[in-house]
Amino acid sequence: MKKIFAANWKLNKTPEQAREFVIQFKNEAFKHADFFKTCEVILFPQAFGLEAVSSLCAGTEIGFGPQNIYFEKSGAFTGENSAEVASVALKAKFALIGHSERREIFKEIDGQLNKKNILVQSLKMTSVFCIGESLQQREAFQTLPVCFAQLDAGLAGLDQNVRVIVAYEPVWAIGTGKVATLEQVAEVHQAINDKLEARGFKSFQILYGGSVKADNAASLLKVPHVDGFLIGGASLEVSSFLNVCLAN
Ligand code: PGA
Repeated sequence: MKKIFAANWKLNKTPEQAREFVIQFKNEAFKHADFFKTCEVILFPQAFGLEAVSSLCAGTEIGFGPQNIYFEKSGAFTGENSAEVASVALKAKFALIGHSERREIFKEIDGQLNKKNILVQSLKMTSVFCIGESLQQREAFQTLPVCFAQLDAGLAGLDQNVRVIVAYEPVWAIGTGKVATLEQVAEVHQAINDKLEARGFKSFQILYGGSVKADNAASLLKVPHVDGFLIGGASLEVSSFLNVCLAN
């Protein structure tokens, strides 16, 4: 099974910078034999960079998609991103849904995220659906109940025969340099795996996210049910992103 390396560029990179990244990344990746046989790469540029990434990646082995979509396909929703445009016009096959910054800063709630996941699936795209607990919730021993509630609500009504990717990102580990311990990651990934199986999902991968870097990637990838990463800071430069991939 390939490991997944998903780059969350957040509100960074101009279209030109996104283009340069892809060109350089392809050049570097192809120097490594079998790179795309062992690594599935997904890029999440900000909306203005999606077309640039699409023009270089559509039809190649590099997946891509928007960092957020609205749960309606089109209409009077000023300022939102259309998943249908991303899918049909830009050939995006993935969408990042429910990142903790969307949940916290933009107050996105489970019911909306569920509608987004359903729309993504109806367009034959794959969600990278983010869940994770805050520090306060972890300290109150609420990690698993919080993750399960987010999973139950977010994935309700989805076709369990269709692929879904879940990204476990402890909120306290995102952009902080604090990585969850291997034991913490192992416990939560095992629990998510069991939960998804119990809910009847047949095709899923579970990513870890939160301060992943080249020097912690190899040990995290050995944890059972860690199928890859969602990477923020370390995905912005080709060299650091590639080094995370090469830890595989
Ligand atoms: P980070 O971000 O790798 O910079 O911690 C991860 C994310 O926000 O998805």
